[in-house]
Amino acid sequence: MIDIHSHIIYDIDDGAVNIVESVELCRQAFHNGFDGIVATPHFTNYYDIDGFVLERDSKLELIRERLAEEKIDIALYSGAELYLSRAVFMAGDLDPLTINDSQYMLCEFPLGPFNIDEGLSELSELTSRGYTPVVAHPERYYAIRHDKRLVDWILERGAVFQVNADSLGGNLDSLAQRIAVDLIKRGVAKFIASDAHDKYRRNMDFKRKFSAVPSEITQKDLENCLNINPGRVLKNEDIFD
Ligand SMILES: [Fe+2]
Repeated sequence: MIDIHSHIIYDIDDGAVNIVESVELCRQAFHNGFDGIVATPHFTNYYDIDGFVLERDSKLELIRERLAEEKIDIALYSGAELYLSRAVFMAGDLDPLTINDSQYMLCEFPLGPFNIDEGLSELSELTSRGYTPVVAHPERYYAIRHDKRLVDWILERGAVFQVNADSLGGNLDSLAQRIAVDLIKRGVAKFIASDAHDKYRRNMDFKRKFSAVPSEITQKDLENCLNINPGRVLKNEDIFD
């Protein structure tokens, strides 16, 4: 299994605070059956893409070295969680921010209310540049929770969804769980990921997260969203079937 959304890199965003916590999160993922993790730190400063990539990649390398020392056999891949804003129109080459140098780009909208037209045009900017946006945790956005039509408008822009394991397991609230289940059953949520930030609450303990997954979610759904589709993304293959 591959986790395509995580904040395991230390001291770069609001995720892991130090390398010990980075390693701890990787260990937790490994013990929960994961072979790979995509590190997706929050990306907001479109005017310093190079600085972000340099810090991300150097810290990723240090974490890899530590994992090898501690014999934690899990692969780490690079990515980012792009915060959509008007700045996307001004941004230079975004290729280094994709998931493992593929066409797939993890991105997020503001959690609170936002201008829908502007948000959708920012998403379209990504597709017009040839990326396939993977919209993170739709079940958490105020805008979707209050108006489900936004789901279809996002899909019309060529994006797909990634739901959080916590939401699916009912650890957020019942509405988030309902939305996560519906999107998986519609076949438009192609991924389930941890969005892990720390070893305490938003962590990699998937066994606990999945202790209350609704019965509509089958083993096949889990296999598609945690293994098959993430594996295709890493190889830059098509996920639309
Ligand atoms: Fe995230």
